[in-house]
Amino acid sequence: MDTTLRIDSLTVDIGPGRVIDGISFEVAEGRILGLVGESGSGKTMTALAVLGLLPEGAVIRSGQVLLKGNDIVPMSPEERRRLRGKKAAMSFQEPFTAFNPVMRIGEQVTEAMRAHGMSRAGAEKRLAELSRMVKLSPGICRHYPHELSGGERQRMMIAMALSCGPDLLILDEPTTALDVSVQKHILDLVSELQRRKKFSVLFITHDFSVVNKIADDVAVMKEGRIVEKGSKDKVLKAPGHEYTRKLIGCIPRLGDTRKRLPV
Ligand SMILES: Nc1ncnc2c1ncn2[C@@H]1O[C@H](COP(=O)(O)OP(=O)(O)OP(=O)(O)O)[C@@H](O)[C@H]1O
Ligand SMILES: [Mg+2]
Repeated sequence: MDTTLRIDSLTVDIGPGRVIDGISFEVAEGRILGLVGESGSGKTMTALAVLGLLPEGAVIRSGQVLLKGNDIVPMSPEERRRLRGKKAAMSFQEPFTAFNPVMRIGEQVTEAMRAHGMSRAGAEKRLAELSRMVKLSPGICRHYPHELSGGERQRMMIAMALSCGPDLLILDEPTTALDVSVQKHILDLVSELQRRKKFSVLFITHDFSVVNKIADDVAVMKEGRIVEKGSKDKVLKAPGHEYTRKLIGCIPRLGDTRKRLPV
């Protein structure tokens, strides 16, 4: 199976702290990998490393980040910028802060496309297509970010990430801030788009029940390390690590449902 993303022995420090500690995993072509772990385990830093968007002060100590076979670690910031959007694109953890509050949402998406060399007319046509794709009415593009619901903002973030047709879509906690019914719509949307457009997905979450619904494969992250990885079915059926069992235990239906004595 071909891989869209292969991370090999990646280590990242920020100041004196090691935030990613020798991680290796792959996202296979056309598959959804759930990267799961508790808060602070290094999931967002991993995503930012893939995009070449690590915060100031972060240093890649070792390892490779191969996007379709090309290692982005030795690349210049300009080379990485050119890959963003087309090779890999990301929907950020906090859509509310990721959007500019004083700019209409549609303009922000077209601006991102124009930065990649698209004409104004081309970008506007594409914006209408993208809104339909994520099931939003085109009229919503004239609104400001605060005028959208959490679910609508998330859809717009996904639309923006998909604007240049990426090989890899990274979704960082796209459903965490949403209530359960909206969460389901977003997961259904991602599954449907992935099936239709055949991109690969790195889906970041702290919630194993979300992984269970959407992922083909799983990598479990703890304190900057990958402690377990494999197909979702294998990891759910026979988790090899205590930490994985603990995370799975948080899924009401899959966890331990034996009746406990009242205390
Ligand atoms: N700008 C920064 N400077 C220094 N340390 C940082 C910075 N951003 C994050 N960290 C540290 O890096 C580690 C990993 O953070 P990261 O944001 O990747 O976690 P996460 O798994 O995405 O957590 P969450 O589920 O809360 O989003 C944490 O210990 C965090 O404190
Ligand atoms: Mg995070």
